[in-house]
Amino acid sequence: MFNRTRRLRSSQVMRNLVKNIDFTLDNLIYPLFIEEGENIKVEIPSMKGQYRISIDRLEEELVELKDLGIKSLLLFGIPKKKDPVGSEGYNDKGIVQEAIRFIKSKFPEFLVVTDVCLCEYTSHGHCGILRGEELLNDETLKLLQKVALSHAKAGADMVAPSDMMDGRIKAIREILDENGFINLPIMAYSVKYASAYYGPFRDAADSAPAFGDRKTYQMDFRNSKDYLIEVENDILEGADIIMVKPGMPYLDVVKGVADAISNPVAIYNVSGEYSMVKAAAENGWIDEEKIVMENMYAMRRAGADIIITYHAKDIAKWLKRGV
Ligand code: PBG
Ligand code: ZN
Repeated sequence: MFNRTRRLRSSQVMRNLVKNIDFTLDNLIYPLFIEEGENIKVEIPSMKGQYRISIDRLEEELVELKDLGIKSLLLFGIPKKKDPVGSEGYNDKGIVQEAIRFIKSKFPEFLVVTDVCLCEYTSHGHCGILRGEELLNDETLKLLQKVALSHAKAGADMVAPSDMMDGRIKAIREILDENGFINLPIMAYSVKYASAYYGPFRDAADSAPAFGDRKTYQMDFRNSKDYLIEVENDILEGADIIMVKPGMPYLDVVKGVADAISNPVAIYNVSGEYSMVKAAAENGWIDEEKIVMENMYAMRRAGADIIITYHAKDIAKWLKRGV
């Protein structure tokens, strides 16, 4: 037999020699939920091992993350007050803005990315402002500009708009440039599907829409063609990194995006994906470490340069111990 593919699988050294996918903590981003208030560190029931943390309890968490070798963070805020326009989202003294300042003052080496959206801050839980039940695109852009600018002023290293309004990357790029933040990159949630996989996150961030769903702005997973339009638009509008979300069920899309563009591609391994793995592992049905690492390699193989994942701390522990 000429073709014996098993020849190159004969030993671990041989397998390591021919492997071509690398995976390190450098490419991971760890999401953090920051809640307004005092002395809060509450485990999120649907996301075992993930917490809502107040700023006065943040330092212990940051020390742990630093010791683990985690380098990049994605911040979400949970404000005390919500209103129809989500004004806490662009309050210069808001929860995310204060958290950025805190992190940057204590541990400036963390790369701090912020989620730019309004759904955690609006009383109705939609990602923008409404007229009746209609989400107003262009009016929402003005508020997203304010959110992004307030994050930039507080010291964020990168902003990540997740709202799915049309034209938001251009709007945010313009306001950042006008205010001197010409070198602040935008990681666009460009390809974001209306997905039930965000369920646990919406518990965590208290951001479920009060009525209806997000299908008029987030994408329809029954279409296999429209994602490149989103990517093209965002790149033309000035996006630096292109994100696909959710992760695991959308690897075909990640591959399509990665093959089509030269910008770095990020994938968001979202809350529902995390919770499914955690639940099965807790029941002893799967080997958590092996499953998580297999998933990480699968996402890298599909073309993701950057992986946003709640598993980051566990992965860091496993890598430290040596796998
Ligand atoms: C805010 C936002 C969401 C997620 C990231 N940013 C929720 C949503 O769009 O409903 C989901 C993250 C996750 O599920 O882990 N727009
Ligand atoms: Zn939103």
